[in-house]
Amino acid sequence: PKRITVPEFTAFKQSGHKISVLTAYDYPTARLLDEAGVECILVGDTLSMVVQGRENTLPVTVEEMIYHAEMVGRAVDRALVVVDMPFPSNYLGRYKAIETAGEMLKRTRAQAVKLEGGSEQAETIRSLTCAGIPVMAHCGLRPQSVHQLGGYRVQRDREHLLEDARAVSEAGAFAMVLECVPRDVAADITARVPIPTIGIGAGPDCDGQVLVVNDMLGLTSDHVPKFAKQYANLKQDIIDAATKYRDEVRDGTFPGEEHGYK
Ligand code: KIV
Ligand code: NA
Repeated sequence: PKRITVPEFTAFKQSGHKISVLTAYDYPTARLLDEAGVECILVGDTLSMVVQGRENTLPVTVEEMIYHAEMVGRAVDRALVVVDMPFPSNYLGRYKAIETAGEMLKRTRAQAVKLEGGSEQAETIRSLTCAGIPVMAHCGLRPQSVHQLGGYRVQRDREHLLEDARAVSEAGAFAMVLECVPRDVAADITARVPIPTIGIGAGPDCDGQVLVVNDMLGLTSDHVPKFAKQYANLKQDIIDAATKYRDEVRDGTFPGEEHGYK
């Protein structure tokens, strides 16, 4: 099958095709999500928390993002693959941003990068786009700014959010994530910008939705945000399977005849 391209992804907005995005960080998960038919797989810097067990998204490095993006890229036949620019790689000037993003595309099968930021990132977005590197912007709540924000909260400054959305779109972003903004603000932005809005905690009026795969599969042990609907409870399935295995090893039920060689 053919990969979904960046222009095809952007065109989903005009055709009214609602876009599903999920994160993935490894080969087996990405294969299954691709088979399920999601349009885009995001190698998010949330891997810092959900894979590496760190407190926030700040510590993850460019090399670590590339390592995970390589595995995801190898798994995917159809979905658009996007990789996050880790903190603070998109704030080091346009040359450094092109170098980092370019390296991420050279060494993986990712087709685009995502970066957190609004109007202050317009120049960087324009430079990356000029270099042939498609950019998905990430407005609203920006987890890489957690220290400045003092926590993860709904972002309610309508004028500021509209200004950011307009700026990243005009700078050439092909889509934007809108994280944790009130439904009516997300709807307003979605109606005003020509590129798809991908919401997370931003209501149903966006052009698409994104969730962290570990959250939606019920694999996350720590706090899960309100917007993260659980479509499965894999945490309990894994505990149950491991408990059963432990019991069967102890009582000799496993391995049975059929699991061995004569
Ligand atoms: O890193 C990530 O997983 C993300 C999504 C939640 C949008 O940025
Ligand atoms: Na991210």
